[in-house]
Amino acid sequence: MRPAPPYASYDAPATAEVARRAGIAPSEVIRFDGNTSPSAPSFARAEALSEALAEIHTYPHGGYPGLAEAIAEYAGVAPESVVLGAGADDVILLVTRAFAGPGDRIAIANDPTYALFHIAVGLAGAEVGDDDPVLTICCRPNNPTGELGELPSARPLLVDEAYFEYSGVSAVDLIEDGVIVVRTFSKAFGLAAARVGYALAGRDVAAELNRRQAPAPVSTLSVALVLAGLDSPPDVGPVIDERERLAEELRMIGLRPLPSDANFLAVPLEDGADVAERLLLRGLPVRPYRDGIRITVRNRGDDNVLLDAFRTLSTRQGSGRD
Ligand SMILES: Cc1ncc(COP(=O)(O)O)c(C=O)c1O
Repeated sequence: MRPAPPYASYDAPATAEVARRAGIAPSEVIRFDGNTSPSAPSFARAEALSEALAEIHTYPHGGYPGLAEAIAEYAGVAPESVVLGAGADDVILLVTRAFAGPGDRIAIANDPTYALFHIAVGLAGAEVGDDDPVLTICCRPNNPTGELGELPSARPLLVDEAYFEYSGVSAVDLIEDGVIVVRTFSKAFGLAAARVGYALAGRDVAAELNRRQAPAPVSTLSVALVLAGLDSPPDVGPVIDERERLAEELRMIGLRPLPSDANFLAVPLEDGADVAERLLLRGLPVRPYRDGIRITVRNRGDDNVLLDAFRTLSTRQGSGRD
């Protein structure tokens, strides 16, 4: 086996493990670390799966034309511009290895940003660097800061729009100009465990990516759920309202959440890892990052539990200059 690249990854503990460490039942754990919905969407019902279950013994011969068409309509592109994958992660790995190999450099526009980008560069055998990159990666809105930064002018450019629905801003109009947009059904659509993501790219680039993708990367059960979701796309308004309420409450406690265009808030703290550990021991995992903690916006009830925990925790402010 070729040696694996050195990279840091964050292994989120299983809910059962969090519960064990907190001394509570798994059902009492409230996760603020995954940037996913607090509950399953109403369209995710057994009936939505019945046709796919009746065909579960066969391969999805011919791919998933119905899904590519539905995504194309949702995103306002041609079906030939759609590339499917088992989550946005799978698509990011695909794009990275399609563009880069040993000796190549990939530029990563944001810092800090989504950890998988560094992993993807390493797995492609390439290096992270700004000197004559074969690909630039940008996260918009950026995870973990929530910022909707400027779109780099570099091409080819992968724009990770996992949180697009919350910002409403997309680079999709630039796909014929060397931009590859990557999105997911894990966040606003509430289907993280179904593992479906997609890229939107110019027709030639999309065809090359599809040639390099696994023959059947998505389960037909997941496809059925995504089609049900695309029938009634999510209303992110309540999440955005709750994000602003949570941010205001955090400010009243004396914390300084960064402005966010996504379903999470970054809170700069000097002792972020320590605060995250103490919250985990209360069954409230948040995501530590280099400059603080990142909190998933859930709903009023759950978020109030986290706010109560903050009121009894001492924290050391970070610079808030992200
Ligand atoms: C910026 C970003 N891209 C991609 C992903 C992964 O999405 P998926 O669940 O579709 O693999 C995440 C998940 O947290 C993310 O934050």
